[in-house]
Amino acid sequence: MKGKFPSKIKSISFDFKQLNSAITQQLQARANFLPSNTTAYRLLDGPSEGLDRGSCLEVYNNTQTNAWLWQTSEAPTSLEIKQFIKVANQHKASLYLKTLGAKNLSKSPQHLSGVEITKPFLVKESGRSYWIDFASGYSQGIFLDQRDNRNQVATLVAERLKSKEEVKILNTFAYTAGFSVSAALAGATTTTLDLSNTYIEWSKRNFEANNININEHYFLKGDTLEWLPKFAKKERLFDGIVLDPPSFSRNKGKVFKVQDHYSTLIEQALLCLAPQGWVMCSTNYLGFNLQQFESIAKKACNSQGIRADITAAKLPEDFPSSNHLKVVFIQAL
Ligand SMILES: C[S@@+](CC[C@H](N)C(=O)[O-])C[C@H]1O[C@@H](n2cnc3c(N)ncnc32)[C@H](O)[C@@H]1O
Repeated sequence: MKGKFPSKIKSISFDFKQLNSAITQQLQARANFLPSNTTAYRLLDGPSEGLDRGSCLEVYNNTQTNAWLWQTSEAPTSLEIKQFIKVANQHKASLYLKTLGAKNLSKSPQHLSGVEITKPFLVKESGRSYWIDFASGYSQGIFLDQRDNRNQVATLVAERLKSKEEVKILNTFAYTAGFSVSAALAGATTTTLDLSNTYIEWSKRNFEANNININEHYFLKGDTLEWLPKFAKKERLFDGIVLDPPSFSRNKGKVFKVQDHYSTLIEQALLCLAPQGWVMCSTNYLGFNLQQFESIAKKACNSQGIRADITAAKLPEDFPSSNHLKVVFIQAL
């Protein structure tokens, strides 16, 4: 059920009463507007919900685990930590802190209070299951800001299945296969491609958590920039392709930079696209705004002679302060 989005919260001064009241209010509000059967979401997002820019609180729940991930751009003071712990204890939450930034990229979140989470656990998103791991390093297994796009991918698959017997989806830079899972559950045959074996194995566990037979889908450990031309050469075409690269990546000395190489990436994807297929292009790169990103997508379509509708996606409602994620869907006509 969709509820009214709560009004702005004034800056939280981190005393127990204020923080507890903001969190309690948002817990109720989120319950009203999140898709049903969703237990991982952003609870407080930046300035419009009382925190500093770039700071947020995320919740990862199941019936046994109640994990709170507090993310800040600067290390909080010991007083702020003390107050946050008090509130987390009140809600029986395991509180973790992640200090954002390049120098922390190899660190797992720090356990601050409550029961320490030592094993991966499952959360739900729109009824789908995903494994979360608080000991796996900087990222815990799912990017919550892509929730609506995972749902959109499922919708596009279901629509295409009305006119086609088999719908093939390629998920590149797949990480733990969030997009592949939503596509597979909607009935697609998926190919999940990532450079990291750890993430390919995690992807398979996510499939299994959703009772999807991994033998009916493809998992590839490899470089997207090498595989797209291979697929095109073999005329292996896909009805939908997800492109979600990191802003910078290096493999075997070859560098991928969003600002220099995204248009080539889209062009390569378009060469593997089935008629009337779609490409989802996504980036967190701060050097682009949405208009610039849209025009890169347009240019790539023009250079491949593809007529397309290009639509921008919005961030989910639990991200009212965020504009980091730019996503456009290219729908070939
Ligand atoms: C931003 S994450 C993608 C998030 C994912 N799309 C999601 O929604 O969960 C980037 C992923 O790209 C992978 N990666 C980086 N460079 C790559 C490359 N050249 N080819 C394939 N995967 C790559 C990383 O291992 C990482 O899993």
